[in-house]
Amino acid sequence: MADGKQLISQVVATQIEYHRPYNGVVPEIASRKHTEWIQNVYQRCLEQSGLQAAEIDGIAVTCRPGLVGSLLVGVSFAKGLAYALEVQLVGVDHILAHLYAPHLERQIAYPFLGVLLSGGHTVIARVDAFDEVEVVGASIDDAVGEAFDKVAGYFGLGYPGGVEIDKRARRGDPGAYRFPAPRLHKGDHPFDVSYSGLKTAVVNQREQFRDSQHEASIENICAAFEKAAVDMLLSRVLNAAERFRLRTVVAGGGVAANTYFRQALCEAPGLTVVLPSLALCTDNGAMVAALGYEYLSRGRFSGLDLDVSARTPGFRRAYP
Ligand code: KG4
Ligand code: ZN
Repeated sequence: MADGKQLISQVVATQIEYHRPYNGVVPEIASRKHTEWIQNVYQRCLEQSGLQAAEIDGIAVTCRPGLVGSLLVGVSFAKGLAYALEVQLVGVDHILAHLYAPHLERQIAYPFLGVLLSGGHTVIARVDAFDEVEVVGASIDDAVGEAFDKVAGYFGLGYPGGVEIDKRARRGDPGAYRFPAPRLHKGDHPFDVSYSGLKTAVVNQREQFRDSQHEASIENICAAFEKAAVDMLLSRVLNAAERFRLRTVVAGGGVAANTYFRQALCEAPGLTVVLPSLALCTDNGAMVAALGYEYLSRGRFSGLDLDVSARTPGFRRAYP
């Protein structure tokens, strides 16, 4: 990454095929594959760029939130590299990096409502600056991508489930099944979402299948599930945008690649919607490097004692 905007090279190593048999990410496999591949990914990235290692003048690495084993592999490698090359190191937050990703494609003025929808996170946040994020809503149970993956896994549709459900939903009728919207309980935050009830309701539909209708029923279930999952989010996003008087909504994360979500959000009246290209929605190194540049160019860096964390500590929650 040059000047925080110009992408010189990027290598994405995907482990999906190793996790596919389990319909979800297996932490031990994830860290073992990181250890196996990280040196090669770095080498390929250098080759692609045509640069020498000595021309690198800063290193950004994800240090949270996520699977600690995988984070440790990346952070340890980055520390070794920074030490050997005698350059600055900066640890960045994965959620902030997703929310920063659209800046790689266009200028976005702060503040905006950030929506991060991935396999591990469902976050609605007021974003005031690249490093000032106030979480206003989140999932109280499964992340939205996790719900897609679990439903798809249950019906044997393959992994990552979101992609498989998206494909089938395009051929299904979302009105064929009606799934209950989750009820908020006393004490729940008005911009929070919940997926465990919806997931159970969808899985229970299986009982009602008849063999002759199997494929059509799956497509209809996918369409109805997708609509219920996305509509729940949209209602929170629209309410939060109104409550915090934010007219710009920026979405990221793997589920932001969902066809119905993209379409429905763009149709919401009165909002300027920013959706990164599909390659920047899912996990990528460019967003980490670009956010790292913001810190490094301001002289903010981490020491070689940089630690990893499964969660993001200190995210403020805003209560209206
Ligand atoms: O952000 P991401 O690439 O990785 C992290 O979890 O950090 O998100 C992956 C998630 C998976 O749960 C996957 O099923 C979901 O994004 N996903 C989708 C679509 N593409 C990926 N969900 C719904 N529709 C899609 N088109
Ligand atoms: Zn991610």
